[in-house]
Amino acid sequence: MSDERTVRLTADLRRWIAALFRLPAEEVRADLPLEELRGKLPDPRSLFFAVRLVAERSLGLTLHEVELRRVRDLAELAAYLVRESVPPPPPDGKRFTDPYEGGSWGWRMAPPADPADRLPAAAFILSSARSGSTLLRMMLAGHPDLFSPPELNLLPFESMGSRGEQLDRLGYSWMRYGPGSALANLEGLTPEQTAQRLARLEEEDVAIREVYRQIQEAAGGRLLVDKSPAYSRHPRWLARAEELFHEPLYIVLTRHPLAAIESFVRLRFHRMVADHSLVRDDDPWVLAEKTWAVNNRHILDFIASLPTRRWIRIRYEELVAAPEPVLRRICEFLGIRWNEALLNPYEGDRMTRMPGLPAQSTIGDPNVLTRDRIDPSLAESWRRVDITLSRFTREVAGELGY
Ligand code: A3P
Repeated sequence: MSDERTVRLTADLRRWIAALFRLPAEEVRADLPLEELRGKLPDPRSLFFAVRLVAERSLGLTLHEVELRRVRDLAELAAYLVRESVPPPPPDGKRFTDPYEGGSWGWRMAPPADPADRLPAAAFILSSARSGSTLLRMMLAGHPDLFSPPELNLLPFESMGSRGEQLDRLGYSWMRYGPGSALANLEGLTPEQTAQRLARLEEEDVAIREVYRQIQEAAGGRLLVDKSPAYSRHPRWLARAEELFHEPLYIVLTRHPLAAIESFVRLRFHRMVADHSLVRDDDPWVLAEKTWAVNNRHILDFIASLPTRRWIRIRYEELVAAPEPVLRRICEFLGIRWNEALLNPYEGDRMTRMPGLPAQSTIGDPNVLTRDRIDPSLAESWRRVDITLSRFTREVAGELGY
């Protein structure tokens, strides 16, 4: 049965890739190494988006770019996807006491930055994954006094060269799309110019501080809002915000753990974070829970050390159930005037895609293109999830009022 599905999926992959890139069908062989197939495309990065589209349509499965490393060719990819299309078994009630047990950090830490040399204030949206952060970012992106691009993922690194090397080594090349889309928007770059601009920043190993400086300068008087959920993976990464910026502001976005955990597993984020994080678990449900628990723990500990005027806590559930009062609170906190555009996150260009890549090249929430309005019913989605949480998680949830 699964062999039949693999054969069918291999044929689907070959047909779609040939059609999307206008290649002769016989050139897209099932046993052609993916590296060679990439070489036949106008932009090698496009292969992933084509494959992701087929995986989504044929199997309803969200694929992550790093997973392409697990296979050699389209035939192996089809077999892998068919295996992965069986959802992980439901949670078996396994508990943990120490969420960090088994984790192994694979990123290089940037040395402390010189606090005498801080950039003007920026705002950060801090959250764990699947908390509605892309939606909030897109809401803020409509405000004329804010520049709120997709996930910049710059803060943890010292310079663009060392960042690029780590992204390639650990399978995070998608983290280039946020800065790419920000620079393209600010500087009016064509897709080719965007790719060149990013490549130059890496070749010249430009300091991260300098990249932020350029973005802030090009944003004019607008306040930069950096929403990158990865920052909460490590307390040191969060601490960099205080080293690089003068009195930055933090919008802490929280969501019920059961909803975030279910979304994490359904979107297969366990295949992305793999084995280089502070948390690890072979069971995707437990990994999702540990991720929610420690990321929110890090954020809570971080803001506890800051004056209360510099952070605000927002609940996803309130944001989607009644957006206006929550967004008004955010405006007041950021010191900007109310603007109706905040209520229309899907209106106009809110920088959801990497310029030059196919329409599916979304940045942030992989589901962003599946919605076109705020869906208040998702505030209640946690009620449909039946998991028993570990004590560590329940304590963090309790502190957040869940
Ligand atoms: P699902 O698509 O799994 O439901 P993040 O951007 O932090 O990764 O969070 C993504 C989640 O935000 C989505 O996960 C969804 O629950 C929620 N979300 C995204 N767009 C939304 C919308 N328009 N209305 C309500 N919730 C939304």
